[in-house]
Amino acid sequence: MTTGSAPGKIILFGEHAVVYGRPAIAVPVMQVEATAVVEDAPPGHGCELIAPDVQRKFRLANAPTDDPLAYNVRETLRHLGVSEPDVTITIHSTIPVASGLGSGAAVSTAITRALAAHLGHPLDDDSVSALVFEVERLYHGTPSGIDNIVIARGQPLFFVRDRLIETFLVKEPLHLLIADTGVPSPTKTAVGDVRAGWEAQRDYYDSLFRQIGQITVMARGAIAAGELHALGALMDGNQWLLYQVGVSSPENEGLVRAARQAGALGAKLSGAGRGGNVIALAPKEMRDAVADALLRAGAKNVIATVVN
Ligand code: MEV
Repeated sequence: MTTGSAPGKIILFGEHAVVYGRPAIAVPVMQVEATAVVEDAPPGHGCELIAPDVQRKFRLANAPTDDPLAYNVRETLRHLGVSEPDVTITIHSTIPVASGLGSGAAVSTAITRALAAHLGHPLDDDSVSALVFEVERLYHGTPSGIDNIVIARGQPLFFVRDRLIETFLVKEPLHLLIADTGVPSPTKTAVGDVRAGWEAQRDYYDSLFRQIGQITVMARGAIAAGELHALGALMDGNQWLLYQVGVSSPENEGLVRAARQAGALGAKLSGAGRGGNVIALAPKEMRDAVADALLRAGAKNVIATVVN
């Protein structure tokens, strides 16, 4: 029996703009995780996938080509150059789906890791990430690749698509609250709508993406210097730009407002937007008060995490 696991993730700065070559900052969220357990099955059984959380149980041979779980397994087997093994793969995840926490990429990462290791070909984090990126393309159309790399490496990253993946210095711990609006955030639709907007008004969108990129670079400096007030202000600035990009929603705005009123240093949506999660940076001593305010303002769930 072989187990693979992967954390969730949040984007601190730069979502959407990252698709257009601007930098972004993302961190893993270890409080939630996806796991895959691979076990040998009798000869002739073939490969079976079981995902009890979503009431799915099926044979790989019977799955359509565009089923993301099956596609993930097939891509992994193709990469390893092995034929379909006799195994069962059981998948569990505590990562809320369609909320901006990277549940799809984390499930894929856990499966690829566990399957490759079980078949005697353990893969390093970047190889896993490259395979998961192919699956992300099926889910999301034109992903930047930030979700799969931060989840595979499990460490905070400063990322520029196709150019740069770096860790960065965190001088003071960042106490973050991740509040779920309860509204599913459809990454593919949001990313597609932004692309349609960009195609219709390139100068306007490029200017917004450029400003988001500048904020992201400044945020990296503020994190390295431990300037938490400046960092909060940069989150607010990023949120205002995301609002102009058209990916905020009344639910996102309501939680952002509640967090700020309760003493957060800054707050913004995280991920594709139009729902999903809002993140708030809180002074350590205000963390519980901000979490309570988010719940009172309608958050369906609040996860506290620390980046250090
Ligand atoms: C989704 O977590 C982040 C987006 O920037 C899309 C992407 O980077 O692929 C919205």
